[in-house]
This record gives sequence, C-alpha cells and structure tokens, in this order.
Amino acid sequence: MHKNQISIVILAAGKGSRMKSAKAKVLHTICGKEMLYHIIKSSRMISDDITVVVAHQKESVIKQMSLYFDDINFVVQDDINFPGTGGAMKNICTKNEKVLVLNGDMPLITPQSLYGFLKSDSDVVMSVFDLQNPDGYGRVIIDGGQVQRIVEQKDASVSELQVTTVNAGVYAFSKKILDKYIPLLKNDNAQKEYYLTDVISMARADGLSIAPLLVDEEHFKGINSKLDLSVAEEIMQNRIKANWMNGGVIMQLPSTIYIDEGVVFEGECIVENGCRITGESKIINSHIKAHSVIEDSVVKNSDVGPLAHLRPASNIEDTHIGNFVEIKKSSLKGVKAGHLSYIGDATVDEGTNIGAGVITCNYDGINKHKTTIGKNVFVGSDSQLIAPVTLEDDVMIAAGTTVRSGKILSGELAVSSAKLRVIKDFYYKFFKK
Ligand code: UD1
Ligand code: MG
Repeated sequence: MHKNQISIVILAAGKGSRMKSAKAKVLHTICGKEMLYHIIKSSRMISDDITVVVAHQKESVIKQMSLYFDDINFVVQDDINFPGTGGAMKNICTKNEKVLVLNGDMPLITPQSLYGFLKSDSDVVMSVFDLQNPDGYGRVIIDGGQVQRIVEQKDASVSELQVTTVNAGVYAFSKKILDKYIPLLKNDNAQKEYYLTDVISMARADGLSIAPLLVDEEHFKGINSKLDLSVAEEIMQNRIKANWMNGGVIMQLPSTIYIDEGVVFEGECIVENGCRITGESKIINSHIKAHSVIEDSVVKNSDVGPLAHLRPASNIEDTHIGNFVEIKKSSLKGVKAGHLSYIGDATVDEGTNIGAGVITCNYDGINKHKTTIGKNVFVGSDSQLIAPVTLEDDVMIAAGTTVRSGKILSGELAVSSAKLRVIKDFYYKFFKK
C-alpha cells in the first residue's frame, strides 16, 4: 500500500478530564514530545493525507503541532452540539476512499502496527485486544467472527462488563460508510455523546462485514490518566534505548537511564546508570558518567560527569567535565573543568583549565553577561569571574581571585586575594593550651 492510498483521521478534540489537568490531554508529553506528535509522526510514515480533529484548546494544539509539521489538515469539531468521537467525525473530508481513524491518545502506535488494518477485505476493520482488566475501554461483542457492536463501559450491563475483549480505538472504514452512517448517529447513551463506535453496530445491522483485528496493548494502549501516561512512557523509553543500543551505544543498567525522543547518538558512546538526556541533545563519541543530566546540548569527543549538569545550549567538544560541574549556554572546546564549577553564558577555548570551585557570575540581578576565556588559560580554584569579562589567551588567575569585569591581557596574572598574615602561637593563646 502506498502512502497516497490511505487517509488518516486523528481524533484529538476531547478534554481528557480523567487526566485531571488544565492541559489538553493530547499535549501531555511522553519522552519529551506531545502524545499527538508521536501519533502524527507514525501516521505520516504511511499516509500523506492526515486530518487532526481539534476543539478543546484548539489554538495551543494547532500551534504546538505546527512547530513540527506543516502538512496537517486541522478540522474543528462542534463539540457543543456534537460531543463525542462520532461528533468529531462530522465535516471530515478525506482525499482517499480508505480512511483509518485513530484516537489521539494512543502515542505508542508504530507504522508497522497499522499495516494489518490496510490489508483486509472486510468492509470495516477494527482493533481489539483482550485485557485482564478491561476497565475504561469499550467492550466488543463478537459473534460468528464478526464484530456486532461496541458497548461503552458507562452503558454496559453487568454481563457486558465481564467481556474482556475491548476496543483499542483504531478503525479502517471506507469513505462511503462514514458518509452514510456518521449523520445517522444519535446521542441516546449515558454520556449524551455521539459515539463513533455506534457506526459499527449500524453497519453490521445492514449486513456489512466488520472484522476484529487483534492488536497488542504495547502499541495500542489508550492514555486516559497520568498513571497510563507513565506506563506508556516506560514502554517508549525501552524502545528508544533498545534502538540506540542496537545502534552501538553502551548503556549500563539501562532501566535507570532516561533518553528523550529527540536525542541523537553518533559514533561510540557510553551512558552510565542514572543519566537523563533530554531535548534535542546530540552525543558524539562521548562517555556520559553516572547520574549526569544533559538538556538540549551537544557533547562531542568528551567525557561528562559523574553528577554533572549540562543545561540547554551547551556545546562541549574535546573536553573533560567532572563531578558537580554545571554548564549553561556555553561553548567549551579542549577544556578541563574537573570539579564543582558553574560556567554560564561563556566561551572557553582550547588548553584552558578551570580549577575547582570556579564560578562565572553571569547574572547581575537584571541582565545576563558573557564571559570569554581564551586559549591555555589557567583559572585557579575558587575564583569568581564577574561578567562581562574577558580573559585573553595565556592568562593566569590565581586561586581565590575575584575578577571584577573588564579584560585580563595575554601573559598577565590576576591576583585579588588579600595578603596572607601569619600570627605565631595564636592557636595556643586562643585555646589557652
Ligand atoms: C474510546 C472508545 C472506546 C475505546 C477507547 C480506546 C468511543 C465512544 N469509545 O473511549 O470504545 O475502548 O476509546 O482507547 O469512541 N475525542 C474527540 N472529540 C470528542 C471526544 C473525544 O476528538 O468529543 C478524541 C479524544 O481527544 C481522544 C479520542 O477521541 O483522543 C478518544 O476519546 P476518549 O474520551 O479518550 O475515549 P474513551 O473513553 O477512551
Ligand atoms: Mg481514551
């Protein structure tokens, strides 16, 4: 099946009240990206005609998705007059005859997991799975190999609640069937909503074939609560980490490591236990030691940590970053910063050593200022560099020095510490020993 043979409609207009959040459900993130992003990303791999139905917080949903995709059709649901998944399907106009409808709260689907829906000869194919605990899902009543109807939990009788075959929320329809049955939906149910699932019983009553397709929860789990969100995130984490390990990255105790969807590894990398690497970070031929946090940064031919923190927009190359070092929006190339430092809004050049406890004082309470450190500079321990400040190449800063703005020129030593006084026998007099 080619990309241009199927249209996909993603339902993303619901409130998601079970999430207990001010944020629209489909904008909650998994592995650093919104649920809706994940589902659109997989959908685009099999279709070039994607419609997303929005209503609740539609401006933020459209704005957020437009950051990633520029070829999505957004349709606004009249959720006041036509609430529910069936209401969401009104006014949908697709390019192709075959239409795959996906709930927007299934971030774990993959293109491969959708292929089965495209192959069948039945008039309708719908996803089912068997769950030990079917709580929250619509129950699927199957008879003679055909789906007869779907009963929502809130409408189910006691015996229907015992059914453990549930609707996963993916359907392959033809445009003809949707055009015929969507206008006929009624809202005479517990939730007073127009249920897309009622199309199934109507089509079946007219003698159409409705094939159940058995799918797995690992790909089709619906996210309705924050507990579901955490379960889905763990599943996706495992996929992301397996993918990178198969690509050559070493991970120690991978279950303790968190890697966002946007992170990229190149070459040979090692990630030790307890690390968190987020955003669009890029790690190239580097060793990230235990319990380090890297956010939206690039690390190349370097080692970082243990217990280091690279905050967004840090660029580290050929560099050693040791424990308890925090770097923010800074570029370090060929540098050693081994212990207990804060380097923010700075550039640091080759051959430079940053001693223990060095701090770039980048913030004056109102504005942030830059620190520029040249090549082969030696910054002694416990020094403060009050930005804006420039240390040219070949500069020495004595330990314990406070450099107050300005520029230290090549070849110079800066010392600000008070002269040492030594008082003989003071200790013995003080403690009267
Ligand atoms: C739905 C199915 C249920 C199935 C479950 C699978 C219906 C009536 N029920 O229930 O049989 O077992 O999914 O996860 O379809 N949405 C809209 N507009 C609305 C309401 C919802 O676009 O007016 C969207 C939501 O944003 C969501 C999706 O449709 O992405 C499903 O809605 P949700 O409220 O989660 O339905 P469930 O109760 O989970
Ligand atoms: Mg749901």
